[in-house]
Amino acid sequence: MNSRETKIQLPKGFLLGAASSAHQVEGEDKNSDWWMYEEMGRLPKSGLACDHYNRFEQDFDLAKQVGLNAMRISVEWSRIEPEEGKWSVTGLEHYKKVLKKLKDLNFARMVTLHHFTLPRWLAEKGGMETKEGIAAFARFAWFLAQNLKGEVDFWITVNEPEVYAAMGYRFGTWPPFQKSTRKFLKAIGNLIKAHKAAFHAIKQVDLEALVGIAKNSAFLEPDRDKFLDRLIVRVGDYFGNHYFLRRIRKHLDFIGLNYYFYERLQFDWKKGFKRVNENIDVPRSDMGWRTNPSGIYYLLRDLRRYRKPIFVTENGIANAADNMRRRFISEHLYWVKKAIDFGADVRGYFYWSLTDTYEWHDGFNPKFGLIEVNLETQERKIRESAGVFKEITWI
Ligand code: FCB
Repeated sequence: MNSRETKIQLPKGFLLGAASSAHQVEGEDKNSDWWMYEEMGRLPKSGLACDHYNRFEQDFDLAKQVGLNAMRISVEWSRIEPEEGKWSVTGLEHYKKVLKKLKDLNFARMVTLHHFTLPRWLAEKGGMETKEGIAAFARFAWFLAQNLKGEVDFWITVNEPEVYAAMGYRFGTWPPFQKSTRKFLKAIGNLIKAHKAAFHAIKQVDLEALVGIAKNSAFLEPDRDKFLDRLIVRVGDYFGNHYFLRRIRKHLDFIGLNYYFYERLQFDWKKGFKRVNENIDVPRSDMGWRTNPSGIYYLLRDLRRYRKPIFVTENGIANAADNMRRRFISEHLYWVKKAIDFGADVRGYFYWSLTDTYEWHDGFNPKFGLIEVNLETQERKIRESAGVFKEITWI
């Protein structure tokens, strides 16, 4: 694809933003489950992270400078409800200031309620494995809807439910470090319930509120042009990309798509399928993730079946050398526009992430940011690739 073909054109009113999550940038959320396990040495320490808790104004000013007009953030539950049933005025006031700053910049504001972390007290009681966890989540959603009414344009209940369930309950990499297929399936079921409960809680306060989810979906391809490879791709697509959405489709005002993964599958008599990604010759990020910009086009087209507005709620690349990011973004936006032209109702795109982040069990190694953060000095520097947003033609 030559550069003329990737010239980015977007419809006026399209949201162009960056996404982040509280634990990954704010620093020192001492009442969260992640912090607790980090202190125990089970996870890399997040420490001050990017000190975004204190530097959010500067960060959002930089987002504006880059040419963005929207932000997706998350509210750290443990700052709002540090102890069960006790709401923190300091926590709430903080997020009011954050949202006010975004409003002053004229940014659209998307807020996630659950982005992988839990308050420590809830984790100690069994977290999202329990009915109480779901009820507590609905109460938290209700509290925020009540107190931030009018300050949030789009609510996201849960971020990447399957990733959360798999990492925490199946592979045992993240809290609560379980390795059980049964628990994984139960977690998925509970997240479906949690989404619905939060959806109702928000609507109870504000019928006009727009509530959605950030759904991780991978672009899957059959390795060979064979019936069984194609079949296994269909099965993988159903369970990985659609099962959760189908279960909550009546409780959704919009769909958020987080797109990072491109996989090639082969049917396997023993395991059902195997990934044969070694066969794929495409650019890879610092984390080894394979990129495929056109994949976003097929996923967006496919999401038309739900007849809801769509946002790309995350898409990004770990690339410390900053020699792939510009092209990565422009090609993805090019394919997003193609999807719009095809008839997908895509309303916005949020790059992951505004700044460098604490990337969960990978610590601070992966560098996703449009803005580079020096973790020693907390100095910010806009990466050269972020200039891509200024090349957009609005039509
Ligand atoms: C997604 C997560 C986000 C970030 C990116 C790289 O799975 O939602 O927090 O870690 O991956």
